[in-house]
Amino acid sequence: MIRQIIRMGHPTLRQFADPYPQEKIGSQEFRELVEDMRETLDDAGGIGLAAPQIDVPYRLAVIEIKNSQSRYGEIPLAPFATYVNPKITVINEDAAGIWEGCLSIPHLMGYVERPQHIRVDWINDQGESQSMEAKGLLATVFQHEFDHLNGKLYIDRITDTTKIAFEDEFLTFHSPPE
Ligand code: NI
Repeated sequence: MIRQIIRMGHPTLRQFADPYPQEKIGSQEFRELVEDMRETLDDAGGIGLAAPQIDVPYRLAVIEIKNSQSRYGEIPLAPFATYVNPKITVINEDAAGIWEGCLSIPHLMGYVERPQHIRVDWINDQGESQSMEAKGLLATVFQHEFDHLNGKLYIDRITDTTKIAFEDEFLTFHSPPE
């Protein structure tokens, strides 16, 4: 079932989400939630969705990168995966700026600098502990999605407010030339 994506201003987006109860992983309720998040993400045409964005205040997110070209630029493909109670460890503090968008902040883009080499630890949809390193754009995607679990939005991290743009103006004035 496609759920409504809540938008900036809704208080749930500003809550620190609760850990997802590990004993519920694999339950009917869990599987329905993940399936709903998958359908909602697909319908919205996004690459990541955190549970708080559908007003479910738990530490859970889904990511799927189907096209190597996105509004984020060139990006590695990532098969659909569920990230339960994820944790980010920065491996290298060196940051780079990337234009980000968010399904909860429709039509806007903003330039955000984040570390570009991180490790992610999480529980998958089978209840297994997983760990991987991510670099570049993928590192940004993880940080953006998991920020949602801490009540943070990318606009909180914009340091240069001249680099906020509507999508059309971004494409006209800020997108790198092909
Ligand atoms: Ni977002």
